Amino acid sequence: MIKYNKDELLEILQTYKENHTKETYYKIRSQNPKELLDIYRAARFIYLNKTCFNGLYRVNSKGEFNVPMGTYKSPAFPDEEEMSVIASMLANIQISAKDFEAILPEARKGDFIYFDPPYHPLNNSKSFTTYTKDDFKEEDQKRLAELFRALDKKGCSVMLSNSDTDLIKKLYKGFNINTVKASRMINSDGSKRGKINELVITNYPVNTTGVSDL
Ligand SMILES: C[S@@+](CC[C@H](N)C(=O)[O-])C[C@H]1O[C@@H](n2cnc3c(N)ncnc32)[C@H](O)[C@@H]1O
Repeated sequence: MIKYNKDELLEILQTYKENHTKETYYKIRSQNPKELLDIYRAARFIYLNKTCFNGLYRVNSKGEFNVPMGTYKSPAFPDEEEMSVIASMLANIQISAKDFEAILPEARKGDFIYFDPPYHPLNNSKSFTTYTKDDFKEEDQKRLAELFRALDKKGCSVMLSNSDTDLIKKLYKGFNINTVKASRMINSDGSKRGKINELVITNYPVNTTGVSDL
């Protein structure tokens, strides 16, 4: 919608911004996105993302967005200039939502592919990894690692980020495994927000002195 209809989207967001109250938030949150026109669906997504608690995305077992309202005094909605920049960046970009395995037949030698999957939970913690009602399980991490190897064999340059766990290090053994410090704002326990180790795995050599923190 930003690509094709940003002006109308900006108008809708402006009215949401002007009417932003607790009542508006929960009214918009209760809408079923599947029943909305695409433009309202996009506006709802941006509005909730910018006004909900910590920009978190979480759904209940029925797939309904259930994050409470955040406490922002003036939520940072994208303005006209930002929307224009994003729209021009998207002009020649195709976005599709598919299972990751679907890219294997499309991938060609020399392509660059980056994966940012749901993170494997850290040991002894109930990490947040559920973005949709279908959980991303250990078997999905294994399936993704197999795809990574298949793309490597095809001659693609592949990069993947994940949490620093024994399973992930085992699955990507033989590739370049770099540790980076990442800021994580999303944690229900405020004291646990801060820098944690994460892994950036590549099938090509990287100069780690040039890898900045995420
Ligand atoms: C860490 S998030 C990526 C966030 C994204 N890079 C961003 O900056 O907004 C992981 C994403 O993987 C998606 N995902 C979960 N299962 C998937 C699957 N089987 N195939 C492809 N994507 C999947 C989730 O919906 C979620 O959007």
